[in-house]
Amino acid sequence: MPFQKIQAGDIAFFKTILEDKYVQADDENLSRCASDQTEDLHYLPEIVLQAGTTEEVSSIMKYCNAHNIPVTPRGAGTGLSGGALPVFGGVLLDMKRFNKILHVDKRNFQVTTEPGVITQELQEHLKAEGLFYPPDPASKGSCFIGGNVAENSGGPRAVKYGVVKDYVLNLEMVLPNGEVIWTGANVLKNSTGYNLTQLVVGSEGTLGIITKIVLRLIPAVKHDLLLLVPFRKAVEACAAVNAIFLAGYTPSALEFMERDALEWSMKYVQSQGVNLPEDIAAHLLIEVDGNHTDELYRDAEAISQIVQQYDIDEVLFADSHEQKQMLWTLRRKVGEAVKSNSIYKEEDTVVPRAELPELLQIIKDLGREYGFQSVCYGHAGDGNLHVNIVKGNMSDEDWKHKLPQGIRKLFKEVVRMGGTISGEHGIGLVQREYMDIAFSSVQMGLMQQIKNVFDPNGILNPGKILMS
Ligand code: LAC
Ligand code: ZN
Repeated sequence: MPFQKIQAGDIAFFKTILEDKYVQADDENLSRCASDQTEDLHYLPEIVLQAGTTEEVSSIMKYCNAHNIPVTPRGAGTGLSGGALPVFGGVLLDMKRFNKILHVDKRNFQVTTEPGVITQELQEHLKAEGLFYPPDPASKGSCFIGGNVAENSGGPRAVKYGVVKDYVLNLEMVLPNGEVIWTGANVLKNSTGYNLTQLVVGSEGTLGIITKIVLRLIPAVKHDLLLLVPFRKAVEACAAVNAIFLAGYTPSALEFMERDALEWSMKYVQSQGVNLPEDIAAHLLIEVDGNHTDELYRDAEAISQIVQQYDIDEVLFADSHEQKQMLWTLRRKVGEAVKSNSIYKEEDTVVPRAELPELLQIIKDLGREYGFQSVCYGHAGDGNLHVNIVKGNMSDEDWKHKLPQGIRKLFKEVVRMGGTISGEHGIGLVQREYMDIAFSSVQMGLMQQIKNVFDPNGILNPGKILMS
């Protein structure tokens, strides 16, 4: 059944639930919610609703479900796979008013928060209490924790501390028919029935609207040290990653940046921060953390010995706050820098860590075969490489038709290596055409049936993850 367009009567109903100012149909608000950070995509919603309570979300969902109006939830709009784009128009459910940290349970190392809290603000609030919530996506200063849960985000610290799924204990969510459920319990162990919590984590707003999140926390870690290692061969930088683990070290971050990534980021943030000799092809940014500085210095020293077996330039040790901040800013800004530099497509490949050198080689070989230039960077310690394909001199025709064939071939190689097509950015709108590479028709059928159970009318975030 085709979706219903929003009529005056629908708007009148929404105004019985929300104050007028939270029912927005003006151009500015519609276009504010028409894009996220995915490429240059743009889809206008018909109306933006800013609900502020679970009950309001429930009433909106119940109504839209009954009237066949599509609903697309939106966090901060920092997503990279188009998950928040209202591709069928309809209602854009803006979650920014869900911005309260509800309860810090210090005794149990847990926090209950609303989804519209900025991740970094949540982290800082918890840090002041001696508590640590590690997942830290590059956009942590602007993304919402709810979006992080919806995408199962990662970030640099995942290599030691895990991704968002490893911290979510329980979720309150509104189903498409307006029913409100909790998905689990506030416990560290739970073998009670199917794991609805983990089904919802990473479901990209297609199964329900998350309205409360209970996260597990750990004690704050006191110290860290950062090393920047310049490599003359990018493939060797990838090989060094595994050598560090094989020697028995688990850094708290192990990031890879190709030369262009760092160079473009330096230009973008107008920083001279790092000396970049002509012959340097890539860097590893390696962080170690812990509570005892003497141990950290020993680990950092050992790691810098391990990387000496490769063709490297001088290792930079960053132990001042300013230096560490500068290096992390350069790393976190790579994505924005690439975006500002050219039309591009971002792939989020992930392979078992030891296969990383092969993955990089394959990307570069495919680039030659299909005529694309790529800037690679990412969470090397997780085997997670962000492949930014820049349009550069590629013709529109090749960009549209030849490139998807190259991406298809890349994803097939990734899956052959035991990897998959998205490590932390999700499938959303832009990667769903490649899902058949990662999953058989039987697996896709199961996913479609799960979607149908939660959302039989298909009104919630339609057009995402699955093709239908
Ligand atoms: C990063 C984002 C793009 O790692 O995931 O910078
Ligand atoms: Zn990333």
